[in-house]
Amino acid sequence: MARSQTASRWTLLLSLVVLIACIVVPGLAVKHENFKTCEQSGFCKRNRALADNASAQGASWSSPYELDPATIHFKDGQLTGMLIKTTATNEKIRLPLTVSFLESGAARVLVDEEKRMKGDIEVRHGSKVNKKRYDEAEKWVVVGGLEISKSATLNAQTKTGFTNILYGPNDNFQAIIRHAPFEVDFQRDGETHVQVNHQGLLNMEHWRPKVEGQEGESEEDESTWWEETFGGNTDSKPRGPESVGLDVTFPGYTHVFGIPEHADSLSLRETRGGDGNHENPYRMYNSDVFEYELNSPMTLYGSIPFMQAHRKGSTVGVFWLNAAETWVDIVKKAGSSNPLSMSAHSKKDTQTHWFSEAGRIDLFVFLGPTPQDISKTYGQLTGYTQLPQHFAIAYHQCRWNYVTDEDVKEVDAKFDKYQIPYDVIWLDLEYTDDRKYFTWDPLTFPNPKGMQEKLDESERKLVVLIDPHIKNKDNFYVSQELTSKGLAVLNKDGEIYDGWCWPGSSNWVDCFNPAALPWWNSLHKYDKFKGSMPNLFIWNDMNEPSVFNGPETTMPKDNMHYGDWEHRDVHNVNGITLVNATYQAMLERKKGEVRRPFILTRSYYAGAQRMSAMWTGDNQATWDHLAISLPMVLNNGIAGFPFAGADVGGFFHNPDKELLSRWYQAGIWYPFFRAHAHIDTRRREPYLISEPHRTIISQAIRLRYQLLPAWYTAFHEASVNGTPIVYPQYYLFPDDEQGFTIDDQLYLGKTGLLAKPVVKENTFTTDIYIADDEKYYDYFDFTVYQGAGQRHTVPAPEDKVPLLMQGGHIIPRRDRPRRSSALMKWDPYTFVITLNKDGEADGSIYVDDGETFEYERGAYIHRQFHFRDSTLTSENLGIKGAKTAEYLKTMAGVTVERVIVVDPPTEWKDKSSVTVIEDGAKAGSTASLEYYEQQDGKAAYAVVKSPNVSIGKTWRIEF
Ligand code: GLC
Repeated sequence: MARSQTASRWTLLLSLVVLIACIVVPGLAVKHENFKTCEQSGFCKRNRALADNASAQGASWSSPYELDPATIHFKDGQLTGMLIKTTATNEKIRLPLTVSFLESGAARVLVDEEKRMKGDIEVRHGSKVNKKRYDEAEKWVVVGGLEISKSATLNAQTKTGFTNILYGPNDNFQAIIRHAPFEVDFQRDGETHVQVNHQGLLNMEHWRPKVEGQEGESEEDESTWWEETFGGNTDSKPRGPESVGLDVTFPGYTHVFGIPEHADSLSLRETRGGDGNHENPYRMYNSDVFEYELNSPMTLYGSIPFMQAHRKGSTVGVFWLNAAETWVDIVKKAGSSNPLSMSAHSKKDTQTHWFSEAGRIDLFVFLGPTPQDISKTYGQLTGYTQLPQHFAIAYHQCRWNYVTDEDVKEVDAKFDKYQIPYDVIWLDLEYTDDRKYFTWDPLTFPNPKGMQEKLDESERKLVVLIDPHIKNKDNFYVSQELTSKGLAVLNKDGEIYDGWCWPGSSNWVDCFNPAALPWWNSLHKYDKFKGSMPNLFIWNDMNEPSVFNGPETTMPKDNMHYGDWEHRDVHNVNGITLVNATYQAMLERKKGEVRRPFILTRSYYAGAQRMSAMWTGDNQATWDHLAISLPMVLNNGIAGFPFAGADVGGFFHNPDKELLSRWYQAGIWYPFFRAHAHIDTRRREPYLISEPHRTIISQAIRLRYQLLPAWYTAFHEASVNGTPIVYPQYYLFPDDEQGFTIDDQLYLGKTGLLAKPVVKENTFTTDIYIADDEKYYDYFDFTVYQGAGQRHTVPAPEDKVPLLMQGGHIIPRRDRPRRSSALMKWDPYTFVITLNKDGEADGSIYVDDGETFEYERGAYIHRQFHFRDSTLTSENLGIKGAKTAEYLKTMAGVTVERVIVVDPPTEWKDKSSVTVIEDGAKAGSTASLEYYEQQDGKAAYAVVKSPNVSIGKTWRIEF
């Protein structure tokens, strides 16, 4: 009795402990066993083994690839030739090489395999698979910038055994091509910046027949050549081993950035083990990684194989255009002895090693020299960020799920009641009838139109989820059409592939098939997607694709797509083919209704920036997840896809009020700003949070709305220059070495706004790093911080967003709080001017209708502002187009209502007015000026009230 009592007491205690542990510690962790390590991936292991072998042999290692000099041909900016690989058995494999020198200054190194180009191979298992190496990634990714340079020339001063090409601006770039062993060194101004195959790791696993009974006879590890099993799935590999690999060395460069998506620091780590380094290479194989872990090179939902290498005075980059599974090893070594690659500040060489399971070697090399140059040239190739609809840059309210149309209307009303602005409410999965996309649940969403009309009253939008898996059900017309039209992805035997996802048994639309596009298009029309209205936009999720019962939660690699390409060949571009189809569908849902589509995608590849926004998937409501969101968003920006964000509040679990408030204060700095939460979490709409946190969150959202003019201008810059929207430290201060690893503070475009969100619990000050000797002013009270190369402690009580303004800027904003951003359309502007050391400042603004493509015909305002010699001027930056005059007319009444000058000259004390002169006006008018003295370390400021100059006009204000 006593015994059993003790036992039950213990059981009770144990249950309590378990219960408490469940409540307190989320305890979520990625299931490592579901995803391959390098060791478990055949081609990763083989390519690493090659690298190990080369490094073990040291100087005696020599790459078995040679460029046959007799085949070299250079014409019109393009060099062609035959690379010969000599195998261990002295077989000669012919690999056609093309090196193209592009007008943009980029160079492209392309290697294919002759036998496969000719289709001169046999595939196994009777497979219908395409015999070529996949050569269509470019079709989905590259949209321009391929013009060959007419001025590239052979350098006559070349040593024997080399072919050198001069190219780039003023011929200051040079590609030094060594024939044997093959290597290409890229120089800028006589200095080597990028070396290709310098380590001799070039590897093209050429096609070979499988000779039954002879496995294991060669010296190579053949165990994963012909089939590969992982987690109970066997990959049939009809073409055998076919990976490609290449090393790229950046001599003198200590930092490399890019190759998202990883939950890791901005400056990428070494991957060959050692203190603070990773053990595995950075992997890119778009996957639905449940409960992903932080500070990890594990793959996530998207991939952009684009890398920037940076050092003081120089940025260069490479883009590895390959759609198959890819890994990148990074090693940093003490600087090489090559005097050309060394300079006083170069400390290390960064050696990178790229390998993909299939496809061609297709490498673009960018020689900078600035991060902006790289963004621009890379953007010419893969496209610039879409200029989104204006609502898309405002606040999005999402959760899994708003459960009825009445629920949506109630949330909408509550935001108004509590005067919290928002623009978009989202419907996750459960709005559908039984998880059939393009339908509404008749019980919970009986009146979708009424709901959308209600939203439209305050010009708000609805975004609904449409995933690529289609419920496999006979009476579902979308499923019937998908299969009867032959538009589904097939399995290796050529049957319609069936897998498990949200709706249960599902089939996948194959958006590689051109015939899928008009069909997908038709599904989005108002008469097909009944109940959808013009204020409805789309969220494409699970497009890696996520398959719950598939290998590594995705499709088998031997599945077949249109063109007889294996899923292996195309996996990483799969996600953007869906986005492309949705983008086309949303462009014109009904004749004449041409508007900029808004699509959120989870999976992505280079090029996604032209069509969509992304978010970092299923994060967790923890401080660490909040912290990592900043480098993740920053990294996406430098990889050319800046319209990025993370689920505000964290997807899994319930954030406490402090974490939620801090997350909003950070989230307002994500270019894509959306709160989202898992179905099992408690409701956490900002108005539900008790005071003071409700106000703290509302203020943060309002700050985002106040700065929307600056945000839209930053988006516009990204859309024409390929720049990020929020910049990391090194991008703005490329010569300040102390800033290269800083990834917890960010700048909003070129506005000089510097934010440092608090990402630690119970923390009420923050240290902001300042690179230059300008004055920086607290955004709210103008406290002055100054001192280059130092961290400055800034107060960060819970209700404060740590935010500074660098001297020298003119920041446009709108100060009147409204319910949605659309309702701010005709509101007047406020300019905040912070003067630099010379008493000057610059800024700009871009404005258009925020909805259509009329800006392409000149319907926009683009102004440059200068403050010089005590005069503020507004000058036109825009080029006139057919629609300019008409647009300017509509905007004539939109004016500047206030100008705030921070830290003005003390003489202004005695001024009480300024002269305002609008272009064309005969005489100037006056506006009042009020001067506020400096106090307690806070700068003085002056306010011009109601200058009432028109935002679209040329004018000046004389102080
Ligand atoms: C995925 C998405 C998540 C969404 C859920 C249900 O997990 O990442 O955002 O809420 O699917 O659709």
